[in-house]
Amino acid sequence: MMNEWWREAVVYQIYPRSFADGNGDGLGDFAGALDRLPYLAELGVDAVWFSPFYRSPFLDGGYDVADYCDVDPRFGALADFDAFVAAAAAHEIRVLVDIVPNHCSSAHPAFQAALEAGPGSPEREMFIFRDQPNNWQSIFGGSAWTQVPDGQWYLHLFDSSQPDWNWANPAVPALFEKVLRFWLDRGVAGLRIDVAHALYKDPLLPDVADPKPSDRPSPWFHRSELAEHYRSWRAILDSYPADVFPGRRTAVGEFWGDELVHLAPYFAPGGIPQTFNFFLMAAAWDAAALRETITGSLALSAGSDVVAPWVIGNHDVTRPATRYGSVERARAAALMLLALPGSAYVYQGEELGLPEVLDLPDAAREDPVFLRSGGARLGRDGCRIPLPWSGTAAPYGFTTGTETWLPQPDGWGPLTASAQESDPDSTLNLYRSAIRLRPPGQDFAWLSLGDDVLAFERGFTCVVNMGTSAVRLPPYDEIVLASGPVESDLLPPDTAVWLR
Ligand code: GLC
Repeated sequence: MMNEWWREAVVYQIYPRSFADGNGDGLGDFAGALDRLPYLAELGVDAVWFSPFYRSPFLDGGYDVADYCDVDPRFGALADFDAFVAAAAAHEIRVLVDIVPNHCSSAHPAFQAALEAGPGSPEREMFIFRDQPNNWQSIFGGSAWTQVPDGQWYLHLFDSSQPDWNWANPAVPALFEKVLRFWLDRGVAGLRIDVAHALYKDPLLPDVADPKPSDRPSPWFHRSELAEHYRSWRAILDSYPADVFPGRRTAVGEFWGDELVHLAPYFAPGGIPQTFNFFLMAAAWDAAALRETITGSLALSAGSDVVAPWVIGNHDVTRPATRYGSVERARAAALMLLALPGSAYVYQGEELGLPEVLDLPDAAREDPVFLRSGGARLGRDGCRIPLPWSGTAAPYGFTTGTETWLPQPDGWGPLTASAQESDPDSTLNLYRSAIRLRPPGQDFAWLSLGDDVLAFERGFTCVVNMGTSAVRLPPYDEIVLASGPVESDLLPPDTAVWLR
């Protein structure tokens, strides 16, 4: 089991545009990330997952891929990626890459060839072209179909710059098998699979009664073809030697469901080794809701060889410090996250307690969610602000230049990594301690300390007070870690402790 490092790992998500800039152009890159490796080692993470850094027009932050097997020049070159992987390995940090199999960029040569070749051609068969659109809606807003000059329409579940591949055409799985091997051969420890519950579409492309996007099973999500498809990807992962670093190769699927039961098929044996647990992230600051989702998630993975890593934030959702209502709550949530059994993912900046930036000027926003909704939905730029590393004013050490691709707010001086390093009570030091002290193993038992209290036993006791008044702690010998001040045996609201 030792080589299945991902079962209890802490994985750090790098959103490369906003992590660290090494060349002064205001956009993160591999050179910048390399410089910050000691920071990641100090944080104590087992692996990093890079959101897409491939060649791309960046109309959806790189999730519009024009070449799956090359680094976009904005981030460096393949050699810079290799250098990062090698340097990370020296710290025993593994690297996961983001595979985007549902769609590519309209700039991808295969889509350009399809446009050129015209209706009825094998090139068009790589995508989903029809003479008439149906009533499906894009997840980013508006119709899921766009017309091309010869009159045909192509399907895009996301932006019109992101045509969906036709997974029913065997040439598509064949193409992706090459992509997987390309990165696994370069030594990556695993893959994060983008919109993993999409890919296959009902071949009849039926109109639906309710075209509003949801994560329920539908003619475009959670199709039965996925089970066999992921068994084939698992076989590719397992074909790599497991007894040398980085260990058994893994993959984590971005599977969204409206209900836990929608994810059940992905826990069948032999599938993708990890299924993100987004229900924890979706739950409000409410002990009953969190208890229910944790119990349900543990039940899903019980007896399965598929694990469901915990997560409270990523590049698609409002940052925890804002979503939960305060940084105190986000700190308490971190102690919950890192006490739960199994693996946890931490999105860059969570360890600094960064808030969502809500007041970006419209002209600065880049998210297609904002643009396609005519501004009705703010979109995700506010959780993607370049990280503050040092100093008291923008660009806070992010770049040697003066501009950053998204503007950083005033007042982030106390939140920089360097300001937090020297403060023993900082969120950064809380994360460092929690990652170092998190309990191993899978044991888990609920403790009942009141309706508003989330409490469980994991070799030590984790207690989170989600109510409005202080609660009495059970007898203990030692406070291992606390997310805020605790006096004697009373745990204040919005505070978590680990007790022994
Ligand atoms: C996933 C990504 C998101 C992206 C979308 C389309 O949900 O996490 O950032 O916009 O897929 O690729």
